[in-house]
Parts: sequence; structure tokens; C-alpha cells
Amino acid sequence: MARISVLDLRKKKADNDKIVMVTAYDYTMARLVDRAGVDMVLVGDSLGMVVQGHDDTLPVTLDDVAYHVRCVDRGLARAHLVADMPFMSFQVSPEEALRSAGRLMQYGGAQSVKLEGGERSAPAIERIVEAGIPVVGHVGLTPQSVHAMGGFKVQGRSDQDAERVVRDALAVEAAGAFCIVLEGMPMDVATEITSRLSIPTIGIGAGPSCDGQVLVCYDLLGFDLAFKPRFVKRFAELETTIIGAMEAFAAEVRQGEFPGPEHSFRRKTPRKVAKLY
Ligand code: KIV
Repeated sequence: MARISVLDLRKKKADNDKIVMVTAYDYTMARLVDRAGVDMVLVGDSLGMVVQGHDDTLPVTLDDVAYHVRCVDRGLARAHLVADMPFMSFQVSPEEALRSAGRLMQYGGAQSVKLEGGERSAPAIERIVEAGIPVVGHVGLTPQSVHAMGGFKVQGRSDQDAERVVRDALAVEAAGAFCIVLEGMPMDVATEITSRLSIPTIGIGAGPSCDGQVLVCYDLLGFDLAFKPRFVKRFAELETTIIGAMEAFAAEVRQGEFPGPEHSFRRKTPRKVAKLY
């Protein structure tokens, strides 16, 4: 089965066909989301928070992302695989950005890379695109700038700030990105960006007018019921299901009910135990 290409994704915008993107970090989840028919799978640097347990995405390294991209790639038959460029893998220079992007493609098996930032990231995007690597931009709430933003805060609330976010999106398109994530911004700002860009916009906390939507897989599956930001909709509550299943397993082991004969192996002719006395 052919993987979804950048051309297929551009066509979806032209056809008004919404793009579905979700994060995944391992082979098992990748297999499931691919079977569900999602269009794009992002190995996000959100792995720093949901897989590694950090408070933000800053500790994630290029090797961390490359490893997870490689695992996810093995689980996909159809979905387009995007590798996130972690903090400090593209900020120092366009050359270093290209080297980092190349590693995610060559070692990880990604089909495109994503990097945060608008005007300031345009030279890095241009350099990567020039080398033939498709780039997904990411503007608005950019988690790698958590300290500069004073927290994970919605961007573009004032007129002046909204103009900055729109300028960032235009700069990403002009630099050659084929797609852009719009994160954490008022929906009218995302609507304006979506109508002004010819590349598809994928929203997260950016309202319904984007050309597609992305969520972190564990958020939409309800792995952590204590975490419920406004932009997340839970399509399952697996925290309850998983804890229930683990408790049932523990109880059966402790009561000697598991494993039963149906989970155990037999020899055709059971060995007689010789009597010693
Ligand atoms: O790292 C990530 O998972 C992301 C998405 C939330 C867009 O950047």
C-alpha cells in the first residue's frame, strides 16, 4: 500500500477534504492509528512529556526523536510520517537544521520533518526544503518557547499579537513548507491564516476552520483523566479500562486463577515421575 505523500495532502486542501493527524511514539500505537485510517502520524517532541515524563519538551534530543520515529515507521503501512525537530536541533544554523532533518529522514524513515517558529525559523525551513526534504511548519503556541511565552499560553489574543502570528504563518509558507500546524490561537486568527495560505493548516487548539486537526494520541484516548485542557476531546477513557484490566490480572494471579489449563502447555504423553523410595 502506498504511503500518503505531500501531493496527496496538498490535494486534500484543494478538495476541502479534512486532514487527520495524530501523534504516536511506538510500533504498537502506530499500527493501530494506521489501521484507523489517519492521514498523518507525528512523532512529536511531546514525547518528552507523555513518554519520558518531563514537564516540557526541552529535554528531548534528536536521538530520542530518531529512535521513536524508527519504531513508528515499522508500524505504518499508509499514513504519512512526520518527525518533529526537537529543541536545539535547528535553531543554531540552517546547516545544522539540515543535518538534523537529514538524520530523521535517513535513520528514522520519516517522510517529512516539523519545526517550530515562524519568521525566525524561515532560513532553516528554506535550507531543509532546498535539500529536498518536505517541511511542516508550526506557529502560534510553540511549546519549545515555553519560557519565552511565560507558560503554555494561547498566542495572538491581542490585535498586534494576532498580526505577528499571521506574519509567522505567511513566512513559513514563503520559506517552502508544504503544511503548517497552528497551535493554541483564537479561532478567528486560524481562520484568517487558513484562508490566506495555499498550504494545508492543521489545528490543535485553533478551532474548526483549519484544513485538518491533530491531537496527542494519549489525550484523545483518555490515558490521563486528570489532564483535560479545553482543546482536547476524549474519544475514550482508557485510563479506567487499563487500570481495571491490570487490577483483574493482579487479582487472578494472586488467587491462582491465572494461568488456567487453556493458557498452559502439555506434553502428549506426560512424563511419569519416577518414585525414588
Ligand atoms: O509535539 C507534538 O506532539 C506536537 C503536536 C501537539 C502538534 O507538536
